[in-house]
Amino acid sequence: MYGNDGLLGEVEAAEEALRDAAGRQVSGSEGLEEYFTAVIEADQKIEPRDWMPDSYRKTLIRQIAQHAHSEIIGMQPEGNWISRAPSLKRKAILLAKVQDEAGHGLYLYAAAETLGVSRDELVQMLLEGRQKYSSIFNYPTLTWADVGAIGWLVDGAAIVNQVPLCRCSYGPYARAMIRICKEESFHQRQGYEILHTLAHGTDGQKALAQDSVNRWWYPSLAMFGPPDADSTHSAQSMAWKIKRFSNDELRQRFVDMCVQQAEVLGLTLPDPDLRWNEERQAYDYTQPDYDELKRVISGDGPCNRQRMAHRRGAHAEGAWVREAAAAYAKKRSR
Ligand code: 3HC
Repeated sequence: MYGNDGLLGEVEAAEEALRDAAGRQVSGSEGLEEYFTAVIEADQKIEPRDWMPDSYRKTLIRQIAQHAHSEIIGMQPEGNWISRAPSLKRKAILLAKVQDEAGHGLYLYAAAETLGVSRDELVQMLLEGRQKYSSIFNYPTLTWADVGAIGWLVDGAAIVNQVPLCRCSYGPYARAMIRICKEESFHQRQGYEILHTLAHGTDGQKALAQDSVNRWWYPSLAMFGPPDADSTHSAQSMAWKIKRFSNDELRQRFVDMCVQQAEVLGLTLPDPDLRWNEERQAYDYTQPDYDELKRVISGDGPCNRQRMAHRRGAHAEGAWVREAAAAYAKKRSR
């Protein structure tokens, strides 16, 4: 019904490959750089103890940090609905989901720290606007149905993008992604279930669900990044096996997955040009507005200022908690 069982199968396979890689033996290569290349070519994992080119390290820090920041900022649009969820059960589920996102941020900051940068430094870079987070979290959640659309479309896009990261060449990132993808899969199902309930409710509820899908469809397509021709990092990241597929390949995979799911929901994807292309064995679709993506990435989306102001406020208000935790840790170590 939900169509992501295949993706979960890929996560299982990636987990097995990670276990095999733990006993890796790449031999016969001389020199640090040759060894690095041999490990990547053999589809094994680079670990924190290994030598790696500076640019590989920087690319990973950039991507993992951006990913971690997205998880943390991503708590805001849904957090907005915790106190207004329509039932106690829905409230408990949403609360658990938002907490999961905080956990994902934690795994990812921890993975980034293995590259020699501290979590404090990364958070500081986010607060000073020197690092990015996903464009998608700069859109507002106007109705309860948006919580469903975020689960179905945003978490759905995140899974399609992130399942291949379970095979990323950097061990700590790949391992973090296994757990994240399993949880994201559950998140996607809860969103789908919310929309399914609304779509099969009263006319008013169905209209709410449709309106929400209309607003979230194109921003979700834009999450995959600029088209391949304009992607700065894809070619190098794919050569290093950090990324396994290009932005456009993953976007296509997402569209193909959503069409069937929308049919089961009884909702329409807001694209009059969406149709099956027999030759390509894939759906033709209208591209998102990439100028809008650029504007949102550069800070001019509907909610960028609000999101960052909230994050800065939460960081300042949490200073006493960090100080107390550090004082307690110091006391215990004595
Ligand atoms: N939002 C913000 N910035 C984006 C973006 C987006 N949707 N898509 C691309 N960009 C930025 C890139 O970071 C890069 O900027 P930089 O050079 O200043 O860092 C620039 O646009 C050019 O894009 P590229 O295609 O060259 O960048 P990448 O090769 O890094 O590909 C990516 C972009 C596909 C998003 C890749 O970084 C990626 O797979 N990241 C890991 C996954 C991730 O971060 N997901 C966040 C989604 S939300 C989430 O996970 C939370 C969940 O709970 C829903």
